[in-house]
Amino acid sequence: MRISYSAPGRINLIGEHTDYNLGLALPIALPQRTFVSFDPDSSRALEVSSSLGDGPVRIGLDTVPGELTGWAAYVAGVVWALRTTGIAVPGGTMTITSEVEIGSGLSSSAALECAVLGALLTAADVELDRVDQARIAQHAENEYVGAPTGLLDQLTSLFGEPGQAMLIDFRDVTVQPVRFEPESSGVALLLIDSRARHAHASGEYAARRASCERAAAELGVASLREASVAAALTAVKDPVDARRARHVLTENQRVLDCVAALASADFVAAGALWNASHASMRDDFEITTGHLDLIAETAVQAGAFGARMTGGGFGGCVIVLVPQERVKAVGEAVSRAVCAAGYPEPSITRTHAGGGAGSANAT
Ligand code: GLA
Repeated sequence: MRISYSAPGRINLIGEHTDYNLGLALPIALPQRTFVSFDPDSSRALEVSSSLGDGPVRIGLDTVPGELTGWAAYVAGVVWALRTTGIAVPGGTMTITSEVEIGSGLSSSAALECAVLGALLTAADVELDRVDQARIAQHAENEYVGAPTGLLDQLTSLFGEPGQAMLIDFRDVTVQPVRFEPESSGVALLLIDSRARHAHASGEYAARRASCERAAAELGVASLREASVAAALTAVKDPVDARRARHVLTENQRVLDCVAALASADFVAAGALWNASHASMRDDFEITTGHLDLIAETAVQAGAFGARMTGGGFGGCVIVLVPQERVKAVGEAVSRAVCAAGYPEPSITRTHAGGGAGSANAT
């Protein structure tokens, strides 16, 4: 029996680097997906070919961290994480194709993990709650791949719904749908891929996480979720750590304000919050680049309601909320400014909230 499973990439509308601080975020799943086709058999290994890179790669069902790198490590990580959870999966032949570009900041890694996980669980005839699935995929990424990321990407890939964003509260790990259909209010969501890849950002990511953990420890709280901006600015002695904490705390509030703005379809207010989020990521958390700042600033100057970098930072994509009639002008202004500054021509597309992981290939 051939198993087909797929899972989407994501963009985060607002709430960046809040997940591992037990804060709030508001992502959507993208229409772009990663597809897995799996023919289980009685062997003790997976034979995996992928459009993501060279192959095929052989992954033993007894694989351990350190054995594989690159895209295959995400697949092997899921096999390993399932085994450590006590779930036995069969070997077989797996083929992976992906529409989510690696390193674009659209969470190609979570799309891959969640699609592989779904295919393996289907083959093993095991049903798992989506939060448990997210934790297994995160465990694979943290311990096998070695990236100390939070739960944002996996939860989004698993819980995505067409026309809906998700308000995620990472303290109690709850996901609430929030209607997100800007097109029905005459507003477009643009995805601008800078084409600058974030391949070497893992050290910076870990450094931001360590800064937040130091700040929380100094404030005597288990996570920054329990702290206030005023306390962070007075009690955290290191000025850099204090600014990192201020980003996280103000960003949590912006997520709530953005949910309120969307509830009344107020895209002007939502855009202003995106601009404030970008400024906070640029000045306090220092995860943007001059290239991404230029894209965001130019979009707003050309008539967008708001623009912000999305994802972990140091490259990847900018998202823009723009009235339909300004879409062309914003795209042209951004391309012109970026090329004049010597950066590659960005890819600019309109996008929307798509469906989450599943055996159907719905978008
Ligand atoms: C990356 C990580 C997520 C999250 C974001 C920033 O995408 O994988 O866990 O921390 O960065 O919001």
